[in-house]
Amino acid sequence: MGTLMEIIARRHSVRGYQDKPVEREKILQIVEAARLAPSTSNVQPWRFIVVEDPRLRDALVKKGMGIAVPNRWAKEAPIIIIICAHLDWIVHRLGARAAGLQYYLLDIGIAGEHMALTATELGLGTCWIGWFRAKAIKNILNIPKGWKVAALLTLGYPKEEGPPKPRTRLGLDEILFFNRLGGS
Ligand SMILES: Cc1cc2nc3c(=O)[nH]c(=O)nc-3n(C[C@H](O)[C@H](O)[C@H](O)COP(=O)(O)O)c2cc1C
Repeated sequence: MGTLMEIIARRHSVRGYQDKPVEREKILQIVEAARLAPSTSNVQPWRFIVVEDPRLRDALVKKGMGIAVPNRWAKEAPIIIIICAHLDWIVHRLGARAAGLQYYLLDIGIAGEHMALTATELGLGTCWIGWFRAKAIKNILNIPKGWKVAALLTLGYPKEEGPPKPRTRLGLDEILFFNRLGGS
């Protein structure tokens, strides 16, 4: 619980998990938060695959994670959510080409963070995983051809104890600009 700002401040990447299953009701609440997210032209490209089965999770960590960042810690997570994107031909392919923006990644990012924040509110931990092998994951989970694997999110009860680590973030003075005038 807490205000939205408290939940935002509390969320951090959790890479150690208790060996404790996550209640189905909580999983549904977390995905419901993603379902309500905004998306480009409301196309809602997200599709979520919740992987609880230990053999599938094992295969995902061994064969589906990145090379440079192995993400071995993910084998402790009781749940790995595969966030896929079912691309809309007009918005995501033609629109993206015209604007030079991958709208589906924005859509997925918003929905995924809704999930991460809701998980935090429910006492759960998450970690985004961007280092993965899409092809291997598609094979392991038999994911339809037309879906893109966009990101992974681990989910579970955090193992960590003690005070939270300090957050390393740029200051407002480095990232915020009011009324910046162009061209002189
Ligand atoms: C799109 C995305 C991809 C990420 N990929 C990984 C990853 O592959 N492995 C990992 O351990 N952390 C990954 N992270 C977590 C970031 O390292 C983390 O969010 C960042 O260092 C800030 O720390 P915090 O989440 O604890 O605030 C990823 C985060 C995002 C948003």
